[in-house]
Amino acid sequence: MKTLVTGCAGFIGSHLTNKLLEQGHNVVGIDCFRDYYPRAVKEHNLRKAKKYQEFELIEKDILEVEVFPEVDVVFHLAAQPGVRASCGKSFDIYTRDNIEATQRLLEAYKEQPLEKFVYASSSSIYGNVKVCSEANLPRPESPYGVTKLAGEHLCQLYQKNYGVPTVILRYFTVYGPRQRPDEAIHKFVEAALLGKEIEIYGDGEQARDFTYVGDVIRVTLASIEFPSGTIVNVGGGNQISVNKLLEVIARLTSKELKVRYIQPQKGDVRDTLANTAKLIKLLGWKPTIPLEVGLTTYISEVQKQLVGVK
Ligand code: UGA
Repeated sequence: MKTLVTGCAGFIGSHLTNKLLEQGHNVVGIDCFRDYYPRAVKEHNLRKAKKYQEFELIEKDILEVEVFPEVDVVFHLAAQPGVRASCGKSFDIYTRDNIEATQRLLEAYKEQPLEKFVYASSSSIYGNVKVCSEANLPRPESPYGVTKLAGEHLCQLYQKNYGVPTVILRYFTVYGPRQRPDEAIHKFVEAALLGKEIEIYGDGEQARDFTYVGDVIRVTLASIEFPSGTIVNVGGGNQISVNKLLEVIARLTSKELKVRYIQPQKGDVRDTLANTAKLIKLLGWKPTIPLEVGLTTYISEVQKQLVGVK
């Protein structure tokens, strides 16, 4: 199978790229190495993929690509991430990378006989609800969520108007090796190991359905077989509060954490929890890696990074 992975140097994109290559597929990766976090981190994410002859990297902004490769499957993971960072003056980068780039890609593939166009969406499209079910009316709380929802709508209308076979995956706070440095689990684990202070936004009783990246990759690969038009949550259906997460990190690292509570951040929802019924119906399973297991793996990765082991 020949595939395109946009955002191939990012956290989830690089895991997906590696897995596709390991399975013997060809991967054309597109990434523009946006400096949201250091280029060196993204270079490091790609070091394995670059050893494969079946891997080709197009280092470009999607809006600057003139000719897109002919492929069987598109995995569109490239995006400007970050819920809280999207509130403020830098919104234009979100509209460009998350909306315009998605439209450009759909436009490029509307005449091609694709097997599937998989779009990485986000739990942030839901807004403040107790349980996130696919049938809910999306009401994003953050500008980021608005752009991811716009991307979903673009996928749906290109499917309707041009028959692009889209699948929309709503990822729930993905964590694990290569996690973005701005995300909670990375920040907390690093601070715990270095004895630095951890800032909690609000009272820490907000909860997330943290989902291990290995599970997310398995679902993403399987999604090629989902019927076109599918929209589905990718989460385990278990939530934990930020305060409880800190207790687990303290126990697993055997460190006493220095925690400071500050004001809640704009854009943050209170809780996320995936309704997994649809995912289970499609796959026969749902993400299963328990938080403590995923965290143990992640903590050991951060420990290695801190002592400079590649
Ligand atoms: C995460 C990703 O960053 C988004 O890109 C993704 O789209 C989203 O999940 C999703 O599920 O759709 P978020 O849930 O905000 O967004 O992820 P974290 O950065 O891991 O934050 C989790 C919780 O920890 C939030 O309530 C946040 O307020 C809190 N937090 C985070 C802190 O209290 N302190 C920090 O320093 C960082």
